[in-house]
Amino acid sequence: MNLLEGLQASNTIPKKYLAMTNAELEERAVCVKNRLGKKLFIPGHHYQKDEVIQFSDATGDSLKLAQVAAENTEAEFIVFCGVHFMAETADILTTVKQKVYLPDMRAGCSMADMADIYQTNRAWTKLQELFGDTIIPLTYVNSTAAIKAFVGENGGATVTSSNAEKMVSWAFTKKERLLFLPDQHLGRNTAYNLGVPLEQMAIWDPAKNELVYEGVIEDIKVILWKGHCSVHENFTVNNVEQVRKQYPYMKIIVHPECSREVVAAADLAGSTNYIIDVIENAEPGSAFAIGTEMNLVNRIMKEHPDKEIISLNPYMCACLTMNRIDLPHFVWCLESIEDNFERNRIIVEEPIASNAKIALDRMLELS
Ligand code: 13P
Ligand code: SF4
Repeated sequence: MNLLEGLQASNTIPKKYLAMTNAELEERAVCVKNRLGKKLFIPGHHYQKDEVIQFSDATGDSLKLAQVAAENTEAEFIVFCGVHFMAETADILTTVKQKVYLPDMRAGCSMADMADIYQTNRAWTKLQELFGDTIIPLTYVNSTAAIKAFVGENGGATVTSSNAEKMVSWAFTKKERLLFLPDQHLGRNTAYNLGVPLEQMAIWDPAKNELVYEGVIEDIKVILWKGHCSVHENFTVNNVEQVRKQYPYMKIIVHPECSREVVAAADLAGSTNYIIDVIENAEPGSAFAIGTEMNLVNRIMKEHPDKEIISLNPYMCACLTMNRIDLPHFVWCLESIEDNFERNRIIVEEPIASNAKIALDRMLELS
């Protein structure tokens, strides 16, 4: 067996896990959790499937999960139920003795994949030529560790959808302009809410390595990386209009990864945690159309039978990469840990880890 085959074999789930019933898998998960006790810690993002989230020790949005990872110094094994960039963040924020695992290495994020470090370095060189030392980089946590490290090295910070306004305001106290990676929508929505006119925002196109802007470039305040979330892009102004027509009494609440047009047409916009809080605090009988990932919307519906809740897009699906973490992969990961098999371990190497930590710490201090 060559190296590649060896790697593939070690990453292919044994058939026995796929043949097990959910009841059997659940029983195995409970047994490993009981045996490992506090040595095991399982953070789970709100977009995870119910079959996995039921075993999580902490649930949250990306900010909360970064905070709990930083606070937990006790667990030796951290099984991260979320996507790759979140597990990288956990590895960066935990101690060298703690080991982070991702139950399925295919659980990536299409948005994070829209910016790589080579494109970013290339863009930075060109932007420095155009604007000199007037730009601070900010990156949404939905990005690779290498991009977080680039941001840390260049005086910037990470951002989540829960603290984006705070972080963008902070960035403007440091420099005249900002480069926001990799989600153009979160960047645009946040800067707009803080009073930056759309005419002062440019797009950076990484495929063409060029700035897209129609005015005088000295007017630019925000440079938005041309990336997006392939899940939240599926909410449209047409969806908003349909809901307004069919359910005029409903409040429309969306995640800021939706486009500017959708956010402007909605009643409320905010992070995953914000959406959960608004619905939890609403009066019984209130009605909402939600524009975010479907595993979360289904869970909110189940947890609030006293409220009328629908998805803003009736044909919406779950985030496919979040869904890679299913019960068979989760149990396989837990049992591999007990067998001392370092499968699917996430390790961020130096100096990337230290530089990325600078960017993450700046955010955590301000959050
Ligand atoms: P938050 O967890 O910050 O709300 O972001 C949603 C998301 O897309 C996670 O990948
Ligand atoms: Fe990435 Fe969008 Fe999925 Fe979040 S919902 S993990 S941003 S693809």
